[in-house]
Amino acid sequence: MPARSRQTPSATPARAKPAYSVRNSPIHGRGVFATRAIGKGEDIVEYRGRRISMEAADALPDSDPDNPYHTFLFELNDGRVIDAGVRGNAARWINHGCQPNCEPYEDEDGRVIIAAKRAIRAGEELAYDYKLNVPGRRSARLLAAYACRCGSPRCRGSMLDPAKGKAAKGRATKGGKAPAKDRKSR
Ligand SMILES: C[S@@+](CC[C@H](N)C(=O)[O-])C[C@H]1O[C@@H](n2cnc3c(N)ncnc32)[C@H](O)[C@@H]1O
Ligand SMILES: [Zn+2]
Repeated sequence: MPARSRQTPSATPARAKPAYSVRNSPIHGRGVFATRAIGKGEDIVEYRGRRISMEAADALPDSDPDNPYHTFLFELNDGRVIDAGVRGNAARWINHGCQPNCEPYEDEDGRVIIAAKRAIRAGEELAYDYKLNVPGRRSARLLAAYACRCGSPRCRGSMLDPAKGKAAKGRATKGGKAPAKDRKSR
Protein backbone atom coordinates (compact mmCIF):
# COMPACT_ATOMS: atom_id res chain seq x y z
CA MET A 1 0.00 0.00 0.00
CA PRO A 2 1.50 3.43 -0.82
CA ALA A 3 2.39 5.62 2.14
CA ARG A 4 -0.34 8.13 2.93
CA SER A 5 0.52 11.77 3.17
CA ARG A 6 -1.05 13.28 6.22
CA GLN A 7 -1.30 16.53 8.08
CA THR A 8 1.04 16.85 11.05
CA PRO A 9 -1.09 16.97 14.24
CA SER A 10 0.89 19.99 15.38
CA ALA A 11 -0.07 21.77 12.15
CA THR A 12 -3.55 22.45 13.59
CA PRO A 13 -4.46 26.11 13.03
CA ALA A 14 -3.30 28.21 15.99
CA ARG A 15 -6.80 29.18 17.16
CA ALA A 16 -8.41 25.76 16.68
CA LYS A 17 -9.44 24.10 19.95
CA PRO A 18 -6.80 21.50 20.87
CA ALA A 19 -8.18 17.95 20.81
CA TYR A 20 -6.67 17.15 24.22
CA SER A 21 -5.63 18.58 27.57
CA VAL A 22 -3.41 17.34 30.40
CA ARG A 23 -4.78 16.90 33.93
CA ASN A 24 -4.72 14.47 36.83
CA SER A 25 -5.75 10.94 35.93
CA PRO A 26 -7.59 8.24 37.88
CA ILE A 27 -5.19 5.71 36.28
CA HIS A 28 -1.88 7.30 37.30
CA GLY A 29 -0.42 10.77 37.87
CA ARG A 30 -1.14 13.05 34.96
CA GLY A 31 -3.12 11.89 31.96
CA VAL A 32 -4.37 13.30 28.67
CA PHE A 33 -8.07 13.80 27.99
CA ALA A 34 -10.08 14.51 24.85
CA THR A 35 -11.50 18.04 24.84
CA ARG A 36 -13.81 17.26 21.90
CA ALA A 37 -15.08 14.27 19.98
CA ILE A 38 -12.26 12.67 17.99
CA GLY A 39 -12.99 10.54 14.95
CA LYS A 40 -11.66 7.01 14.45
CA GLY A 41 -8.30 7.15 12.69
CA GLU A 42 -7.69 10.82 13.49
CA ASP A 43 -4.08 11.80 14.24
CA ILE A 44 -4.12 13.36 17.72
CA VAL A 45 -0.57 14.23 18.77
CA GLU A 46 3.02 13.43 17.92
CA TYR A 47 5.14 11.73 20.61
CA ARG A 48 8.01 14.21 20.74
CA GLY A 49 11.37 14.25 22.46
CA ARG A 50 15.04 13.95 21.75
CA ARG A 51 16.20 10.88 19.81
CA ILE A 52 18.97 8.88 21.37
CA SER A 53 20.56 5.46 21.04
CA MET A 54 19.38 2.55 23.18
CA GLU A 55 22.80 2.59 24.84
CA ALA A 56 22.37 6.26 25.78
CA ALA A 57 18.87 5.51 27.07
CA ASP A 58 20.26 2.72 29.26
CA ALA A 59 22.64 5.21 30.87
CA LEU A 60 19.95 7.76 31.77
CA PRO A 61 18.96 8.42 35.37
CA ASP A 62 15.40 7.41 36.36
CA SER A 63 12.77 9.74 34.86
CA ASP A 64 10.93 9.68 38.22
CA PRO A 65 13.31 9.45 41.22
CA ASP A 66 10.44 7.98 43.29
CA ASN A 67 9.57 5.28 40.75
CA PRO A 68 12.34 3.35 38.96
CA TYR A 69 9.72 1.73 36.70
CA HIS A 70 8.46 5.04 35.32
CA THR A 71 9.37 5.60 31.67
CA PHE A 72 9.27 8.39 29.08
CA LEU A 73 11.08 6.23 26.50
CA PHE A 74 9.50 5.12 23.21
CA GLU A 75 11.32 2.67 20.96
CA LEU A 76 11.64 3.46 17.24
CA ASN A 77 11.80 1.06 14.31
CA ASP A 78 15.44 2.02 13.67
CA GLY A 79 16.45 0.85 17.17
CA ARG A 80 16.79 4.33 18.61
CA VAL A 81 14.59 5.70 21.36
CA ILE A 82 12.54 8.88 21.83
CA ASP A 83 13.33 10.33 25.26
CA ALA A 84 10.31 12.52 26.04
CA GLY A 85 12.01 13.64 29.24
CA VAL A 86 13.85 16.16 27.03
CA ARG A 87 11.85 18.32 24.59
CA GLY A 88 8.82 16.11 25.20
CA ASN A 89 5.26 17.36 24.70
CA ALA A 90 1.82 16.46 26.11
CA ALA A 91 1.95 13.01 24.49
CA ARG A 92 4.36 11.85 27.20
CA TRP A 93 1.52 12.05 29.75
CA ILE A 94 -0.75 9.59 27.91
CA ASN A 95 -1.26 6.56 30.13
CA HIS A 96 -1.33 2.88 29.21
CA GLY A 97 -4.64 1.10 28.67
CA CYS A 98 -5.36 -2.58 27.97
CA GLN A 99 -8.45 -1.76 25.86
CA PRO A 100 -7.13 1.51 24.54
CA ASN A 101 -8.85 4.16 22.45
CA CYS A 102 -5.58 5.19 20.77
CA GLU A 103 -2.70 3.50 19.00
CA PRO A 104 0.73 4.83 18.09
CA TYR A 105 2.24 4.39 14.67
CA GLU A 106 5.48 5.47 13.05
CA ASP A 107 5.02 7.44 9.85
CA GLU A 108 7.23 7.43 6.77
CA ASP A 109 9.37 10.22 8.28
CA GLY A 110 10.00 8.28 11.49
CA ARG A 111 7.64 10.36 13.62
CA VAL A 112 5.56 8.54 16.21
CA ILE A 113 1.93 9.67 15.98
CA ILE A 114 -0.77 8.82 18.50
CA ALA A 115 -4.00 8.24 16.56
CA ALA A 116 -7.57 7.38 17.55
CA LYS A 117 -8.17 3.62 17.39
CA ARG A 118 -11.91 4.22 17.63
CA ALA A 119 -14.27 7.19 17.97
CA ILE A 120 -13.50 9.01 21.24
CA ARG A 121 -15.98 11.13 23.22
CA ALA A 122 -15.13 14.50 24.75
CA GLY A 123 -13.81 13.97 28.28
CA GLU A 124 -12.49 10.42 27.75
CA GLU A 125 -8.95 9.76 28.91
CA LEU A 126 -6.64 8.88 26.03
CA ALA A 127 -4.67 5.65 26.35
CA TYR A 128 -2.66 3.29 24.20
CA ASP A 129 -1.13 -0.11 24.85
CA TYR A 130 2.46 0.55 25.94
CA LYS A 131 3.54 -3.05 25.17
CA LEU A 132 6.54 -2.36 27.37
CA ASN A 133 9.75 -4.08 26.39
CA VAL A 134 11.48 -4.80 29.69
CA PRO A 135 14.64 -6.78 30.37
CA GLY A 136 14.53 -9.75 32.69
CA ARG A 137 12.49 -12.82 33.45
CA ARG A 138 8.76 -12.30 33.92
CA SER A 139 8.99 -12.93 37.65
CA ALA A 140 6.16 -12.06 40.05
CA ARG A 141 8.31 -9.14 41.19
CA LEU A 142 8.70 -7.77 37.65
CA LEU A 143 5.01 -8.23 36.92
CA ALA A 144 4.13 -6.38 40.13
CA ALA A 145 6.50 -3.54 39.21
CA TYR A 146 4.68 -3.05 35.90
CA ALA A 147 1.15 -3.77 37.16
CA CYS A 148 -1.59 -2.03 35.19
CA ARG A 149 -4.28 0.08 36.81
CA CYS A 150 -6.18 1.04 33.66
CA GLY A 151 -9.45 -0.24 35.13
CA SER A 152 -10.80 -1.57 31.83
CA PRO A 153 -13.04 -4.68 32.00
CA ARG A 154 -10.45 -6.77 30.18
CA CYS A 155 -7.35 -5.33 31.87
CA ARG A 156 -4.56 -7.91 31.48
CA GLY A 157 -3.00 -6.65 34.69
CA SER A 158 0.30 -5.60 33.16
CA MET A 159 1.79 -2.88 30.96
CA LEU A 160 4.34 -5.38 29.60
CA ASP A 161 4.22 -6.59 26.00
CA PRO A 162 2.51 -10.00 26.20
CA ALA A 163 4.33 -11.08 23.02
CA LYS A 164 7.82 -10.55 24.47
CA GLY A 165 8.85 -12.94 27.20
CA LYS A 166 12.26 -11.49 27.80
CA ALA A 167 14.17 -8.64 26.23
CA ALA A 168 17.92 -9.07 25.80
CA LYS A 169 18.93 -5.94 27.70
CA GLY A 170 18.23 -2.32 28.26
CA ARG A 171 15.68 -0.09 29.91
CA ALA A 172 11.92 -0.38 29.74
CA THR A 173 10.69 1.15 26.51
CA LYS A 174 7.24 1.62 25.03
CA GLY A 175 6.80 -0.02 21.66
CA GLY A 176 4.35 -2.18 19.77
CA LYS A 177 3.57 0.46 17.18
CA ALA A 178 1.44 -0.41 14.19
CA PRO A 179 3.62 0.20 11.09
CA ALA A 180 1.93 2.83 8.89
CA LYS A 181 1.58 0.34 6.02
CA ASP A 182 -0.30 -2.17 8.20
CA ARG A 183 -2.82 0.25 9.62
CA LYS A 184 -6.29 -0.90 8.65
CA SER A 185 -8.42 1.47 10.66
CA ARG A 186 -7.94 4.44 8.38
C1 LIG B 1 5.11 8.53 30.48
S1 LIG B 1 4.36 8.28 32.00
C2 LIG B 1 2.66 8.62 31.70
C3 LIG B 1 2.20 9.75 32.52
C4 LIG B 1 2.10 9.40 34.00
N1 LIG B 1 0.72 9.26 34.40
C5 LIG B 1 2.81 10.44 34.82
O1 LIG B 1 2.16 11.24 35.50
O2 LIG B 1 4.06 10.47 34.80
C6 LIG B 1 4.43 6.53 32.02
C7 LIG B 1 4.32 6.00 33.41
O3 LIG B 1 3.02 6.21 33.95
C8 LIG B 1 2.63 5.10 34.73
N2 LIG B 1 1.43 4.48 34.13
C9 LIG B 1 0.92 4.76 32.92
N3 LIG B 1 -0.17 4.01 32.66
C10 LIG B 1 -0.35 3.22 33.74
C11 LIG B 1 -1.31 2.20 34.06
N4 LIG B 1 -2.27 1.83 33.22
N5 LIG B 1 -1.18 1.57 35.25
C12 LIG B 1 -0.20 1.92 36.12
N6 LIG B 1 0.73 2.88 35.88
C13 LIG B 1 0.66 3.54 34.70
C14 LIG B 1 3.82 4.14 34.75
O4 LIG B 1 4.64 4.46 35.85
C15 LIG B 1 4.53 4.50 33.46
O5 LIG B 1 5.91 4.19 33.45
ZN1 LIG C 1 -4.91 -2.64 32.13
